[in-house]
Amino acid sequence: MVYSKSQNKKEMSSNFRINSFSEYRKDYKRSVNEPEEFWNEIADNFIWKKKWDKTLEYNFENADFKWFQGAKLNITENLLDRHLEKKGNKRAIIWEPNNPLEETRIITYRQLHSKVCRFANVLKRNGIEKGDRVCLYMPMIPELTVAMLACARIGAVHSIVFAGFSSSALASRINDAQCKLLVTANEVFRGTKSINLKAICDEALKDCSSVQTCIVYRRAIEPTSMVGGRDKFWIDEMYKVDDNCPAEEMDAEDPLFILYTSGSTGKPKGMVHTCGGYMVQTAYSFTNIFQMKSHDIYWCTADIGWITGHSYIVYGPLACGVTTVMFEGIPSYPDFGRFWEIVEKLRVTHFYTAPTAIRSLARESLDYVEKYDLSSLKVLGSVGEPINEEAWHWLNDYVGKGTCPIVDTWWQTETGSILISPLAGITPLRPTFATLPLPGVQAVLMDENGKEVEAINERSEGRLAVKFPWPSMARTIYGDHKRYIETYFSTFPGYYFTGDGGYRDAMDNFRITGRVDDVVIVSGHNLGTAPIENAINEHEAVAESAVVGYPHDIKGNALYAYVILQDGFTKSPELEKEIKNTVSKLIGAIAKPEKIQFVTGLPKTRSGKIMRRILRKIASNETDFGDTSTLLDPEIVETIMKEKV
Ligand code: WT7
Repeated sequence: MVYSKSQNKKEMSSNFRINSFSEYRKDYKRSVNEPEEFWNEIADNFIWKKKWDKTLEYNFENADFKWFQGAKLNITENLLDRHLEKKGNKRAIIWEPNNPLEETRIITYRQLHSKVCRFANVLKRNGIEKGDRVCLYMPMIPELTVAMLACARIGAVHSIVFAGFSSSALASRINDAQCKLLVTANEVFRGTKSINLKAICDEALKDCSSVQTCIVYRRAIEPTSMVGGRDKFWIDEMYKVDDNCPAEEMDAEDPLFILYTSGSTGKPKGMVHTCGGYMVQTAYSFTNIFQMKSHDIYWCTADIGWITGHSYIVYGPLACGVTTVMFEGIPSYPDFGRFWEIVEKLRVTHFYTAPTAIRSLARESLDYVEKYDLSSLKVLGSVGEPINEEAWHWLNDYVGKGTCPIVDTWWQTETGSILISPLAGITPLRPTFATLPLPGVQAVLMDENGKEVEAINERSEGRLAVKFPWPSMARTIYGDHKRYIETYFSTFPGYYFTGDGGYRDAMDNFRITGRVDDVVIVSGHNLGTAPIENAINEHEAVAESAVVGYPHDIKGNALYAYVILQDGFTKSPELEKEIKNTVSKLIGAIAKPEKIQFVTGLPKTRSGKIMRRILRKIASNETDFGDTSTLLDPEIVETIMKEKV
């Protein structure tokens, strides 16, 4: 192992930690003026088997981005091996079960290292090699982290599918990446519910010929049906190997994982993240945004099935050698005090959650919060969607008691790490604003003509874009580079386009207000309307459909579906339910429309394009439709409004 001189013997994160606002300003300026030198110095704080020959090579037109070319590393040496000497007995993961009567599990860095190496050997023994794709469809249990890092250990590419997705959503993701192996559990517990994950896998695997092996972790003692030759229990496999597994030497630009996100066509996009840049920027952003001390306890409530869990439960925190809490359950079980009970019990200092969770808890009695001692808390974080004033103040007043900075972190699956956020205790806060871009992030707002908006007054609006590459950006869409270019690099040539809109205040603070494309953020989940329409159209009674988002008190946004029925079918509550269930079955319950309105036609332009803007306004109870002169049949708008549900 080559240790960089600057990092030898020192605690790694201290070398790139920003300590004051003037230091932030200085680093930001430097990162714009000398981006390569800036990132070189940060990257020097990691363990590389070989250093890079070139910091950055890029071309916006072909969407070709390469960071730290020529460097060799294994990310797990940075997350695990590096900490063994000084932090071997430190808690890496504290796991809280869904049911509070079950035991908390503690896994030290040494134990995690051992488990990861052992499972890496299990993967190898089952024929997995560097570059092979492995699908993980698992509950929030430490074995999910073990499986992820075991893949990284041997250079296999993990593709995690959130365990709330349906069997057909799972199958399409497995097939897209041609995964060779699937890791799952027999059950998943969520509140009072338990779901047989293995049965969902069996259903999915009927259509997945690439999967040769399915490894099943026994989360519950329930009998589990196993397919001979294909299915193996986790524990049986772990007994067959030892925990000695040298880390595979990876190129900085080799893929680390694929993670699917929805887009404006029916097919999910497999965003590909690479080893070097992702490691550097998740650790850099984690250190600076959260500003943790060595004995602090960090808890991010997201699911590892989403990017937040990848970057800020696993990779970022472990790279920084901190203690990260993993929670299996939900905020409302056994009651609405669960989050606060855990904060008190584990003395959590850093608490990172989603606005939708805050809104659902703020609705309940304050007794649930006040019953617990939250004095350990130092920093609060928000992610996934714009946080509204009420939720911000509730979090600040009742959870933080006015003493904890709130970091409103803006980013995306595609960006890999947080790009815009306050640094806790350093950046002046403005409620509901994600404030300033991190050093290394050249965020800009664009007008309709593709020109950068100057920050001249209290509110300059535009579409959010980034004008320079950053190390943790996704490198491509798996198997479809053309779509990658079209989606992110063609709207504003020479820029990465985020799909979000927002504005900037006179202090340059960003407030990101929401999507400007056909993606709706429901309870913090990124849902494309196109795949949901496709699912609705699968129902035999449906001729055509259009799905839009509208504001919702708890979920932020909810889905409103306009459905045209085939001849011979009539609307009924049963049919409505069936259509919703079709969406659940084909995608997952998170994508179910809140409301369905049966209509006889949709507002279309003469060229046949649905005018979603109008449908969005109707769903939101707005009546100012703007220019409707291109509508083929303006009367349909009146009819739809009259029959609104
Ligand atoms: C979209 C990305 C990466 C975090 C989890 C979601 C919205 C995310 C914020 C925020 C306003 C936000 C954006 C973005 N979003 N964080 N702090 N303020 N909007 O990842 O599923 O890829 O969704 O979430 O619309 O484009 P994702």
